[in-house]
Amino acid sequence: MIDLRSDTFTLPSQGMREAIYKAEVGDDVYREDPTVRALEERGAEISGKEESLFVSSGCMGNLIAIMLQAGRGKEVLCARESHIVCHEIGALSSLALTQPTIVESRDGIICPEALESFARPYSYDMADRSLVEVENTTSGLVYPPETLDAVTSFAKRNGMRVHMDGARIFNAYVATGIPVSRWARDCDSITFCLSKGLGAPAGSLLCGSADFIREARRVRKLLGGGMRQTGFLAAAGLYALDHNIERLEEDHEHASAIRQALEETDWAKVERYGTNMIFFSTTVSHEKVLEYFRSKDILFAPDAGMLRMVTSLNVDSQMTDCVIKAIKEFRA
Ligand SMILES: Cc1ncc(COP(=O)(O)O)c(C=O)c1O
Repeated sequence: MIDLRSDTFTLPSQGMREAIYKAEVGDDVYREDPTVRALEERGAEISGKEESLFVSSGCMGNLIAIMLQAGRGKEVLCARESHIVCHEIGALSSLALTQPTIVESRDGIICPEALESFARPYSYDMADRSLVEVENTTSGLVYPPETLDAVTSFAKRNGMRVHMDGARIFNAYVATGIPVSRWARDCDSITFCLSKGLGAPAGSLLCGSADFIREARRVRKLLGGGMRQTGFLAAAGLYALDHNIERLEEDHEHASAIRQALEETDWAKVERYGTNMIFFSTTVSHEKVLEYFRSKDILFAPDAGMLRMVTSLNVDSQMTDCVIKAIKEFRA
């Protein structure tokens, strides 16, 4: 099978499995797991923040950031397409008790000029707009740095904090050469995932100031996220950071080749493309397209009313060539 459904389907390599096997572990709730501590130090270093916290998932990292920087009766400004709005089971309202306020966006990227109308002075009867959330990459697209700067500068001028959902921030780094610490520089917190293109089985890092992470550790426990000998997972995360960042470039090259093949057909139209993701519409039904590709052992899925292909370490150059061949041979 050639699996283009998501980079979350990546499996640990032999080297990663060995690192997991050999991990030195302890009780992380007592902060006695040396491998988790090493991973958290690395997270702080990479993000340029004072500290980081190992959490079970990107969803948990985002939720903790929202609980601490927004919370009950507050508002978070975000894009309509954002993962926190569309794919986190409404946790920001059901658990953080925060109201999402949708700002005009294009393909998940907030339009900074639209933000200005969201600035408002204190009022006793209005929710406090305390947080802006940005997602980078968002559906594979990298935030234009000047757009991010405009968003963070708006937040600063208006006394708001900024959280970056950087689930795939390493794709943004590899695509632009801009280090994660620069992407995160004007954000108060950032979450990044180890379990997507980096290929670890689970885990994300939430990064921010030492005060913020101290509180985040308490909220993680509150949510049932205090784990014990979790150094086994942290070892996979460290391995991923050591071995799997630069190779994301290959995923981007494969996505670019697939995108070009789709653009050359008369049955597909590329609607959105960046880093390792291609979204496209088709002149025939999605079912017909998916069935044809499934018959060639190629899997992908619909998303946001389009079809989506995602490259990852699941898909090597030979597999990419097979996908391109199948694209060329499809008859609508
Ligand atoms: C942009 C984005 N943010 C957050 C998440 C949540 O990550 P997790 O699945 O680890 O909870 C995902 C998951 O796919 C994502 O794509």
